[in-house]
Amino acid sequence: KRLILIGPPGSGKGTQSAIIKDEHCLCHLAAGDMLRAAVSAKTPLGIKAKEAMDKGELVSDDLVVGIIDEAMKKPSCKKGFILDGFPRTVAQAQKLDEMLERQGVKIDKVLDFAIDDAVLEERISGRWIHPASGRSYHTKFAPPRVPGVDDVTGEPLIQRKDDSAAVLKSRLESFHRQTQPVINYYSKKGIVATLHAEKPLTDVTDEVRKVLS
Ligand code: AP5
Ligand code: ZN
Repeated sequence: KRLILIGPPGSGKGTQSAIIKDEHCLCHLAAGDMLRAAVSAKTPLGIKAKEAMDKGELVSDDLVVGIIDEAMKKPSCKKGFILDGFPRTVAQAQKLDEMLERQGVKIDKVLDFAIDDAVLEERISGRWIHPASGRSYHTKFAPPRVPGVDDVTGEPLIQRKDDSAAVLKSRLESFHRQTQPVINYYSKKGIVATLHAEKPLTDVTDEVRKVLS
């Protein structure tokens, strides 16, 4: 299967990706995770992306399209993939269509993580991540076994620099202005499934499984 996950910051894209990628053996291509890795490795691309990310603005289409195009060439992505956080603009969606056409494949489903903005601050402020794997936890909704420590590796968890109330506001603005139109783009193709993303984590997983079955 080839899936796209679209939703505002904190809506649960990364959390559900981690579950379905294992169940369906899909490769998980998370634009934000790849960008954060480039920023912390201080690659030329990371240096270019950092300023926009710190402000909660979108990184330029060219940079992100380049990363995704490269990542999709991995042999493990041939059977199927989850695009988490890409495309986020209509221009990115059009570029993706061109890439897929070249490969002779199509997107099966677009999962739209519908959720009220008001819920997202609590999601974001309680989030702790394990940067190397992209696993995320939540102090209230999905606590790690030992506070501040990754369940799998025992390594320390960190909070994301852009997970402040002020930066969340600008991330939400970018979402509504630039990414919401992408949902309409795919609605016209008849492949969007809308999820109740404000529900508890396991309920959302059930909805995702139903859509994919
Ligand atoms: P990115 O990393 O993609 O951030 P985002 O879209 O803002 O999404 P998040 O990762 O914050 O949220 P999520 O939906 O994955 O939530 P999660 O599952 O962790 O992008 C970061 C930045 O990179 C962007 O701002 C931009 O600058 C740049 N960028 C990325 N892609 C780009 C692109 N295509 N073009 C241009 N720029 C780009 O869940 C959140 C928390 O809630 C967790 O703690 C989790 O445990 C908890 N939780 C999850 N589900 C539930 C539930 N159902 N109930 C209760 N708690 C839950
Ligand atoms: Zn995420």
